[in-house]
Amino acid sequence: MAKAQADPRPVTSQAEVAAEQPTPDAGRIAAMLEQIASTGVARRRPGITRLAYSEPERAAHGLFAGWLEKLGLSVRTDAAGNTIAELPGTDPEAPAIGIGSHLDSVPDGGRYDGIVGVVGAVEAARCLTQRSARTVHPLRFVAFAAEEGARFGEPCIGSKIVARRLRSTTLARRDRDGVSLAEAMERVGVDPQRLAEAAWDPKGWAAFLELHIEQARVLESVGRRIGLVDSVSGSTRIRITVLGQADHSGGTPMHMRTDALAAAAEMIVAAERLANEPQNRGARITIGQIQVAPNSITTISGQADVTVDIRDLDWDRQRVIAERVVQLSNEVCERRGARIEVDLLAHTTPVVLPMWIRTVAAETCTALGIPYRVLPSGAGHDAQVINAIVPAGIVFVPSREGLSHVPEEWTNPADVALGVTVLCGMVDRLDTVLSGDLQDASDDVA
Ligand code: GLV
Ligand code: MN
Ligand code: MN
Repeated sequence: MAKAQADPRPVTSQAEVAAEQPTPDAGRIAAMLEQIASTGVARRRPGITRLAYSEPERAAHGLFAGWLEKLGLSVRTDAAGNTIAELPGTDPEAPAIGIGSHLDSVPDGGRYDGIVGVVGAVEAARCLTQRSARTVHPLRFVAFAAEEGARFGEPCIGSKIVARRLRSTTLARRDRDGVSLAEAMERVGVDPQRLAEAAWDPKGWAAFLELHIEQARVLESVGRRIGLVDSVSGSTRIRITVLGQADHSGGTPMHMRTDALAAAAEMIVAAERLANEPQNRGARITIGQIQVAPNSITTISGQADVTVDIRDLDWDRQRVIAERVVQLSNEVCERRGARIEVDLLAHTTPVVLPMWIRTVAAETCTALGIPYRVLPSGAGHDAQVINAIVPAGIVFVPSREGLSHVPEEWTNPADVALGVTVLCGMVDRLDTVLSGDLQDASDDVA
């Protein structure tokens, strides 16, 4: 970790700070979003593919590092492939306030998920460095590696490593091309034997903030440009392998088949029905991936692998639903003479984010005259993982029509700039609260 240096410049009052601080610029934000997008691979159709621990992801981290170095910050890549830049505070002993998000994408995804929080961190760094006043606490700007669980099933790998929450068995998990997580890391210069070196000492961090697109349509529907997240859904991901009997499509009568794909189809519909049961209202179940073998027009499917992603704000219900999906799948397959094998890919808990950070966020918005809406997050986030070791807050900006994980994903750069204004305001307020100078917001409730 770069050693924080004491900064001799005087600390000015909050009002003075606000008056002299450069304002976030939507044009600069749009240009950075465009540059990061250029590192993604265009596959079959429009959209960005910048998978976890891939060269395109590394290229995006390189841009982030370059921008922050130009601002005069010391930048390093940790043992997990996360990029971290530091702006010293006036007290070299004070724990840091972190800001950041991720730079990887899902396959054929959009240009904003994660990127908005990283580009927002750069713009916040620019505003906070280009004023004379310094915060007491050091500021750290972070681009996490491998947040999307799309490649290896496990989400938030970079943040789980720093929070010591990555199970070592995950390193053996293989992507669709048979490349293991450990191999993917090695290919981009990350040593899987040395991941523990990336662990954060919680004593060195005071708070962590993530700016992110909403990925839903609440803000748009209520006409708010800023969302303050109170809780984040968990996700349980399982792979169910249906084993039937491959056979000739012409020679095998309908009553003599054990068709793995037909069984999977029935399982998928049963899972959808389960999610729509009244007691599960609010839970989400998605079967987003299916692989069939031998995948031939003239052969009955002998094997079908489906992934199930169960999201909920209620941890107990999330687990009960996961068990029920497996039970229903077993019932369907037994009736059809097939059988299943089940792999647990990931099991991330929902979290309630600390009330005191949200209070700081709400007070910041009120002081700046920015209306906001408090809301939960259906998607998962690095800040949700980091919150296990450092109190975290998440600020949302609207997603057009709620679309996300698709090429059509879009967020207005002016809204991102507003989000950066909120982040910078929160940094200053947190800096004061954490120094013990502002009692109201630090009266912790949660
Ligand atoms: C991250 O985008 C997730 O899948 O929740
Ligand atoms: Mn994201
Ligand atoms: Mn995502």
